[in-house]
Amino acid sequence: SAEFTDFKVADLSLAAFGRKEITLAEHEMPGLMAIREEYAEAQPLAGARITGSLHMTVQTAVLIETLVALGAQVRWASCNIFSTQDHAAAAIAVGPNGTPGNPQGVPVFAWKGETLEEYWWCTEQALTWPGEAGPNMILDDGGDATLLVHQGVGYRKTGVLPDADNEELAVVRALLENSRLDWTALASGIRGVTEETTTGVHRLYEMQRDGSLLFPAINVNDAVTKSKFDNKYGCRHSLIDGINRATDVLIGGKTAVVCGYGDVGKGCAESLRGQGARVIVTEIDPICALQAAMDGYQVTTLDEVVDKADIFVTTTGNKDIIMASDMAKMKHQAIVGNIGHFDNEIDMAGLAKIPGIVKDEVKPQVHTWTFPDGKVIIILSEGRLLNLGNATGHPSFVMSNSFADQTLAQIELFTKPDEYPTGVYTLPKHLDEKVARLHLDALGVKLTKLRPEQAAYIGVDVDGPYKPDHYRY
Ligand code: NAI
Repeated sequence: SAEFTDFKVADLSLAAFGRKEITLAEHEMPGLMAIREEYAEAQPLAGARITGSLHMTVQTAVLIETLVALGAQVRWASCNIFSTQDHAAAAIAVGPNGTPGNPQGVPVFAWKGETLEEYWWCTEQALTWPGEAGPNMILDDGGDATLLVHQGVGYRKTGVLPDADNEELAVVRALLENSRLDWTALASGIRGVTEETTTGVHRLYEMQRDGSLLFPAINVNDAVTKSKFDNKYGCRHSLIDGINRATDVLIGGKTAVVCGYGDVGKGCAESLRGQGARVIVTEIDPICALQAAMDGYQVTTLDEVVDKADIFVTTTGNKDIIMASDMAKMKHQAIVGNIGHFDNEIDMAGLAKIPGIVKDEVKPQVHTWTFPDGKVIIILSEGRLLNLGNATGHPSFVMSNSFADQTLAQIELFTKPDEYPTGVYTLPKHLDEKVARLHLDALGVKLTKLRPEQAAYIGVDVDGPYKPDHYRY
């Protein structure tokens, strides 16, 4: 058979290392492995052509191989320029039975440290299937693959290119001008998208509201076993991992500001406090502000503390949280990082425009910015999500929950198209509970069994769902 060359990764010789970490991760991902076993025979994803745009890490490798084990064909790109683990990408390209000299894996287009042009090229490659067919499913994280398809369709329909007022959209615009893909046909072949994160879900609801959404979507983020675990406990682990690997500064005793006290902010604040930092929270939502106060954090404005704190972390999914004028007021060697999905939480463009400021690379994804008066601040991952840029993202066990949700959502949309007309849905609660159940044994959890009289008394089925949809956990 012809040589497999349909991929682009940094270095195939890293595949053996990647494979060893994938093997270790499989044991830590009991949800995904149980789903592989349960559906091995039924092959519910046979015929699915899934384009994935999600951080190409070791955990994602286990997800990709789960989708393949359920019958899917897969093409993959990362959803961030810094988040790929090159050994994981190499192992996916080589595959479990290939060698670096004879790769036999999955088409993957991802490496750590892509330019923006390379990033969008990779996304287009993941959407470009050999032959006539296009993808019939998207698995997205942050919505960039979905965005590109929608922009492509809009461009073909109106001849108008997306507004290119920022650097990133200018790159998308250039790509669409030169793209040979038939975006309209491509979009019409897509049965649906399953979206991983808060920011991507926000984009989907916006498109649903303005009537531009082209295919059904499952909001995986708002599965309880996703946002209340990955966003919170995942960030509790990977935030300080990123800060430590980047700077190795002692966190204990320092003052840390966490902007935003949603699911991600809650995990971040807890991890910094766990290291002995004094944590201060900023919020715009009175409910989250009150939660932070009751959890024992000082809640105030950035303005009040910007010249006093040592570590700043943005977790809002909003833009313009820390501006250049704020950074100008910070202490010498203050550390500034973002863990929200996009890089617009920290005003990097404004920082670069300060007259006389000098940027210097300490090591990849760690930069000092020296102000004219000699003061230095340290910026992590150029303002992009630092837990994936400076560390390796969330650990396997928590991602097993998120990715089990993803896999079940893919099966739902692919196998029951009639039940999901164009719109945005959350995962049915019985599947959410199923994902949690799949992770109990590994932690030695013994669940109490609901007795029939008790079930009748609280008005639920013995086998669940145990909570109404409006319950908040
Ligand atoms: P969320 O909506 O639960 O929390 C965001 C919080 O920020 C809200 O409580 C909101 O009121 C607050 N906020 C908004 N504007 C603010 C402002 N100007 N100042 C202070 N607070 C403000 O969202 P969630 O789930 O916590 O996600 C946050 C971001 O993190 C999203 O972009 C999401 O996609 C991303 N994310 C990143 C992960 C990672 O591994 N790096 C993992 C999961 C989510």
